[in-house]
Amino acid sequence: MTNERNLSIEVDGLRREFKGKGSPVVALDGVSLNVGLGEVFGVLGPNGAGKTTMIRILSTLLLPTGGSAKVMGFDVEHEPEKVRRVINMASGAEKAGYDFISAKRNLWFFSQLYGLPSEAAERRIGELSEELGLTKYLDRKFYALSTGYRQRATIARAFINDPKVVFLDEPTIGLDVMTARSIRDFILNEARKNGRTIMLATHNMAEVEAICDRVAIIDKGKIIASGTPDELKRSLGVPALVMEVSPARAEFEMLSKVSGVKGFTSSTEEERGVSTVQVVVESDAAARAAEEAVRKEGLKVDASWRKQATLEEVFVALVGRGFKEREEQDVV
Ligand SMILES: Nc1ncnc2c1ncn2[C@@H]1O[C@H](COP(=O)(O)OP(=O)(O)OP(=O)(O)O)[C@@H](O)[C@H]1O
Ligand SMILES: [Mg+2]
Repeated sequence: MTNERNLSIEVDGLRREFKGKGSPVVALDGVSLNVGLGEVFGVLGPNGAGKTTMIRILSTLLLPTGGSAKVMGFDVEHEPEKVRRVINMASGAEKAGYDFISAKRNLWFFSQLYGLPSEAAERRIGELSEELGLTKYLDRKFYALSTGYRQRATIARAFINDPKVVFLDEPTIGLDVMTARSIRDFILNEARKNGRTIMLATHNMAEVEAICDRVAIIDKGKIIASGTPDELKRSLGVPALVMEVSPARAEFEMLSKVSGVKGFTSSTEEERGVSTVQVVVESDAAARAAEEAVRKEGLKVDASWRKQATLEEVFVALVGRGFKEREEQDVV
C-alpha cells in the first residue's frame, strides 16, 4: 500500500534511549526523514551515530522510545506484522546463515519462513544467485564460503521475499573492491528495475557516491545534513579551480589580489616544467578572473579544471568537530 506522497519510509522525531548503568544513552535524538518509493537512501555517520539503531527500529527489531516511523504506510510500532510483510533486512557485520547446510539450503530455509511456494522459491533462488554470481557456489556449505560469497548469499536472502523495502546495514563491509562493486550493482539494479526502496547504512563514501540517490549524515543521534551527494558536496562552496601553468614558477602572489579568491596553494614539477595551482574561489566569476590574472603575467594555462569537494571532505567538515568533542568526553 502506498500513500499519496509516494513515500516508502516516513520517520518523524524518532528517539531511542538505552538505559545503562549510568545515565541513559541517547542513540537517536529526534530523527526525521522521508524516503521516496524506489529510492536508494544512504545513512552515513561515524561509529555510534545511531545508524544501526534506526535500521533496527525501521525493520521492527527494536521499539522506539519516542517519535514514530512508517514503512509503506504501516506504523513500525503499532503494525509490525504488516511492516514485516513488505520488508527485509541484512547486516554485513553479522553472520547470517547456518554453517552446516549449503548456501542453497540456507536460502531455501529463509524462503520457506516467508511462505514462498516451492516452485517460486526455486525460481527466486536461481534468479538471485545468477544476478549475484553465486550460482557456482550454491552447493557449498555456508561455513566453507569465502567472506565475499557468504555476503552474496546474505544479500540474496535479503531479497528472497520480493520485499518492497530493504534495509542493509553496511552491506559491503570487509569485501574486496570487485565484490563490493558487484553487490552495489545488484542493489542499484533492484531499486531501478524492480522499484524497491533501499535504505543502507555505510561508512563507505564511494558506496554513497556510486548508488545513493540521497544521503543523510547522522551524528550523535541527529541528522546534521541531508540531500543528494552532489548537493552535499556543493554545500561546501563552489568547486576549487585547478590550473596547470607553464613555465613553472614558485610563487603566484598575483592571485591574492583577485577579488573572490579565498586562498591558493601551488606545487611545481621540475621535470615537466609546470606548476599546479589550486585556488579556492567563492564564485565562478572569481575562477575566471584567477585564470585571467595568471595569463596576464605572461604564463600559459596548459589545462584548467574545477574540483568539487569530495563527500569525505563534507563528512569531515560536518562531523570533524564532533570527533574532537567526543575524544575530550572520553577523557573525562
Ligand atoms: N542494546 C544497546 N544497549 C545500550 N546501548 C546501545 C545498544 N545499542 C546501541 N547502543 C548505543 O547507541 C548508540 C548508537 O549505536 P548504533 O549501533 O546505532 O550506532 P552506529 O551508527 O550503527 O555505529 P557503527 O558505525 O559503529 O555501527 C551507541 O552509543 C551505542 O553504544
Ligand atoms: Mg552500526
